[in-house]
Amino acid sequence: MDPAQLDRDHLWHPFTQQQGWSEEEPLMIERAEGTDLIGEDGRRYIDGVSSLWCNVHGHRHPAIDAAVSTQLAKVAHSTMLGLSHPGAAELAGRLVELAPPGLSRVFYSESGSTATEIALKMAFQFQQQRGGQHARRTSFVHLRNAYHGDTLGSVSVGGIDLFHSTYRPLLFQTHAAEPGDAADLERVLSCHEEEIAALIVEPLVQGAAGMLVHPPGYLRAARELCDRFGVLLICDEVATGFGRTGTMFACEQEDVAPDLLCLAKGLTGGYMPLAATLSTERIYEGFLGAPEEQRTFFHGHTYTGNPLACATALASLEVFEREETLERLQPKIELLGEQLDTVAAMPEVAEVRRCGLMVGIDLGEHDPSLRLGHRVALEARRRGAIVRPLGDVVVLMPPLAISAEELHRLVEITAESIGVACASAYPAPLARAA
Ligand SMILES: Cc1ncc(COP(=O)(O)O)c(C=O)c1O
Repeated sequence: MDPAQLDRDHLWHPFTQQQGWSEEEPLMIERAEGTDLIGEDGRRYIDGVSSLWCNVHGHRHPAIDAAVSTQLAKVAHSTMLGLSHPGAAELAGRLVELAPPGLSRVFYSESGSTATEIALKMAFQFQQQRGGQHARRTSFVHLRNAYHGDTLGSVSVGGIDLFHSTYRPLLFQTHAAEPGDAADLERVLSCHEEEIAALIVEPLVQGAAGMLVHPPGYLRAARELCDRFGVLLICDEVATGFGRTGTMFACEQEDVAPDLLCLAKGLTGGYMPLAATLSTERIYEGFLGAPEEQRTFFHGHTYTGNPLACATALASLEVFEREETLERLQPKIELLGEQLDTVAAMPEVAEVRRCGLMVGIDLGEHDPSLRLGHRVALEARRRGAIVRPLGDVVVLMPPLAISAEELHRLVEITAESIGVACASAYPAPLARAA
């Protein structure tokens, strides 16, 4: 049977209104090469959002492909519960070397949602096990518009009503602070001083909120406030990690070392589902004790630390070094900035926000039924690029390996698509309501 028909008959896609989906022809990606995705009919599309913000060195990178084959010839999966394997240990060592100072322990899982869920549980249990007045630290502070994943813990510290409000009755109580506003964070922390286990933030840029970039110094101020109020800092670098903001981790740009660091997406170069929650030795030691003391972290998934995924992550980190990925990224970031100046000047565009290779092109306020962002994505697809909007914010987040020419073409296609989509949504004369 036709795969498109099977999709319509049996699949249920993430973050997708299936009613609209089944009315459109699904684009089936059959293979990929470098920074191009290739459809069943052989058409090529620039992967303008890195296959949901995770691809780093391009698709089918020979060194990463080889690492998968080599590992496959050894073992595809064995458990981390009661056993270990060389890849998991080696990768933990590499991550500790690369991460901000003080993070010395690595706990694996499979997605960004689980990486943050684990950080929340670790922070909570750490405070409980400290005992005394610390056991009253049972709540969390997060930022408005935050996105930390889709499991119930990560949704509890989320702040995007469209995604999260339905689940409110199921969620634990948290306190929200205004993004990028250190004074507001200080106010929230001082009002609830003794009840807060941790603050969770997406450092520098809130991705799913529409690429909201924080003012310089905000992350540093958040670190200082956490220290002052005895609150742990969780940095969720699921989106920003692995070069996306121009440095390996966004935290580095403000010289910040969190107590817990969440990594996923780019960890395997975008090849395999693997996530890591890194903790300080202080937190780790808070869980030590005889089994009967029940200080164990009772959390772990079947595929935690999967050997194939660890091999892929190690290969990706080697490519970072060998190809000097971060060094070669800087000119591309500058080029992207220059090209986006033209987009920012378009009458259809309200604002362009950017941090490194993370871009949000905000089309302003429009009637949601126009689905303007979606129209832009469809137009871009016709022109040979995959982009995915967040509402009416068109997101660009190409793989770090994208060439200057492809980057140029991606921005050109996006600009043209915005023009055509707006013209179709508002038949002449253009009456944008932004
Ligand atoms: C900052 C952040 N945290 C967590 C997640 C959730 O990651 P995953 O989709 O792998 O569960 C995302 C996903 O976009 C994210 O951007």
